[in-house]
Amino acid sequence: MAKNYRIAPSILSADFARLGEEVRNVIAAGADIVHVDVMDNHYVPNLTVGPLVCEAIRPVTQALIDVHLMVRPVDRIVPDFAKAGANIISFHPEASEHVDRTIALIREHGCKAGLVLNPATPLSYLDHVIDKLDLILVMSVNPGFGGQKFIPQALKKLAAVRSRIEAAGRDIWLEVDGGVKVDNIAEAARAGADTFVSGSAIFGTPDYKATIAAMRAELAKA
Ligand code: DX5
Ligand code: ZN
Repeated sequence: MAKNYRIAPSILSADFARLGEEVRNVIAAGADIVHVDVMDNHYVPNLTVGPLVCEAIRPVTQALIDVHLMVRPVDRIVPDFAKAGANIISFHPEASEHVDRTIALIREHGCKAGLVLNPATPLSYLDHVIDKLDLILVMSVNPGFGGQKFIPQALKKLAAVRSRIEAAGRDIWLEVDGGVKVDNIAEAARAGADTFVSGSAIFGTPDYKATIAAMRAELAKA
């Protein structure tokens, strides 16, 4: 079955001194989505970018902007990212007091809503909200830093989430994030992922086009 796979470079590993150019280049190189990692030095032990940076890159590309919130609290900042041009906003259920309310808030602001599962987060968080989700993000590292090693248990989790998506019968994207590279992208696809975040394995290479082409070649085999 020919699948619609999406590659989402994480700008966390881009050269921030030339961010607009990096975004333009990576999309021109064949990527589909711009993944923006938002960290608050509270929910995760790192600090990155806020809505201003999302707003700054919005005019640079037509590609979807996929905002991955690693912040607590979540709700206060959701409207700001929607106004800044985000298309998809995902959050960690542990960081929200009221998961269902946060999903509704994201959708009310015209964005697609995603729920992010950490390596130790149980799938039960999906039980009562899967019908309201547009995307499920399975973390294949613990959140907070780029350049970490893919945790193999994520493959089983991807497969389990894929079954839940099939049971739900809706077009929910299944995204994998952390340590994804040319060598393991096919495995993640076979486990059920259709959307692949990759930071260091793209921005850390000299030729984004060649790297993304190599990823697509792997996906074609999956
Ligand atoms: C981790 C972030 C990821 C990460 C991906 O908290 O959510 O998006 O930056 O980077 P790589 O591909 O380098 O693991
Ligand atoms: Zn991310």
